[in-house]
Amino acid sequence: MSFLPSRSRRTPVICFVALLFLIALYQLGIICGSNKEQPTSVMVTSEKYVMGEFDKKKYPYDRNMPLIFIGGVPRSGTTLMRAMLDAHPEIRCGQETRVIPRILQMRSHWYKSERESMRLAEAGISKEVVDSAIAAFCLEIIAKHGEPAPRLCNKDPLTLKMGSYVLDLFPNAKFLFMVRDGRATVHSIISRKVTITGFDLSSYRQCMIKWNHAISAMYTQCRDVGSDRCFMVPYEQLVLHPRQWMKKILHFLDVPWNESVLHHDEFINIPGGVPLSKLERSSDQVIKPVNLEALTKWTGHIPHDVLRDMPDIAPMLSVLGYDPYANKPVYGVPDNDVRENTRKVLADDGVWLTKARELALEVKPENVINSEQESTSSSTPNE
Ligand SMILES: *[C@@H]1O[C@H](CO)[C@@H](O)[C@H](O)[C@H]1NC(C)=O
Repeated sequence: MSFLPSRSRRTPVICFVALLFLIALYQLGIICGSNKEQPTSVMVTSEKYVMGEFDKKKYPYDRNMPLIFIGGVPRSGTTLMRAMLDAHPEIRCGQETRVIPRILQMRSHWYKSERESMRLAEAGISKEVVDSAIAAFCLEIIAKHGEPAPRLCNKDPLTLKMGSYVLDLFPNAKFLFMVRDGRATVHSIISRKVTITGFDLSSYRQCMIKWNHAISAMYTQCRDVGSDRCFMVPYEQLVLHPRQWMKKILHFLDVPWNESVLHHDEFINIPGGVPLSKLERSSDQVIKPVNLEALTKWTGHIPHDVLRDMPDIAPMLSVLGYDPYANKPVYGVPDNDVRENTRKVLADDGVWLTKARELALEVKPENVINSEQESTSSSTPNE
C-alpha cells in the first residue's frame, strides 16, 4: 500500500528529466536540425506587405518582385508613359519620389572615395550590407507612397543613369527607357523652366550638350543590362501609334492587355488610376488624351548657330535615328484616334485650363521659382 504513492510521485520527475534531455538534443541540433546547412547565423526581416484599403488583401513586397522602372532625360514623355501604365488595373507607378535617384547617387559617392570605401569595409559595412539597406529604402518608398498593386512601378527619370546597379538590387526589375528628339526635350526644359542639375536654362547649346551627355549615359546602361531588362520607347512613336506601342510595352513587361491604357485621361486622381502631383511640371499635360501637341513645338525656337552645329553638339540624335539637320521633322503619320484627340485638345484651350484648375495643378511655369528641383544633391563625408 505504501509502494503506490511513492511511485506516482516519481513519474512526473522522470517525465521532466526526459523532456529536458529532448530539449538539449534539439538545441544541439541532433534532432530536427533545421539549420544544418547554415554555417553562420544571419539576421532576417519578417515578411513585408501592404494591406489593400478596399480589398483588405495582403500585398507582399520584396527584392525579387518584378518592379518596373521608367527612365529617360526629364521632359521626354516619362510622365505620359507612367500615366498610361497607371491607368492599367494591375499597375501602379505614381508620382516621382525624388528620393530614390538621390540615395542611389549618394551611395555611388561613398564608393568614389577609396578612403571612405576602406573605412566602410573596416566598419563591417560591406557592399552586401549597403545594398540590402539601399534596396530596403527604395522598396519601402515604392511600396508605400501609393496604393498597393500587383505590379509596382517607379518613375524617377534619372534613376536609369544607375540602371545596372538598380538591377543588382532588384534582379527581376525591368526598365522602360523613354527616348525623345533632344531638340524637343531641350526646348521643353527651357520653355517650362525645369531646373535640372547641370543644365543652364539660358543656353540651348549648353542644354543640347548636357542632353547628349545624359542620354548617352542612359543608352549605355540600357544596352549593358540587355534587351530583356531594358526596352527603348521613342516618345514620338508612342504618341503617333499608342495602341501598337502599348501592346509592345505590356508584352515586354509580361502584363496582359487592357484598353484602359489608351484612356489614361479618364483615370486622373481616381482610386486605382493616375495620381497626379500638383507640383510636377508635366501634370497639366497628362490630363489631356494622347495628342500631337508637343511633337514639333520646338521648331523655330533654336538659335541658328546651334542648329548649324547640331551633329557635333548632339551626336546622339543620329544614333537614336533623328536627322540632326531636319529642322521641321516629320516623325510619322498618326493613328486616327490620335488625330481626333489632337483636334479636341486644340479646339478648346479653356476646357483644359479649367480642368487643371479644378485639380489645383500648377499651370503657369513662368513666375515659379525653382519649385521643381530635379537635382540630385549629395553630401561627401569629411576626411
Ligand atoms: C480591364 O480593366 C478593367 C478594370 O479597369 C476590367 O474591368 C476589365 O475586365 C479589364 N479588361 C481586360 C480585357 O482584362
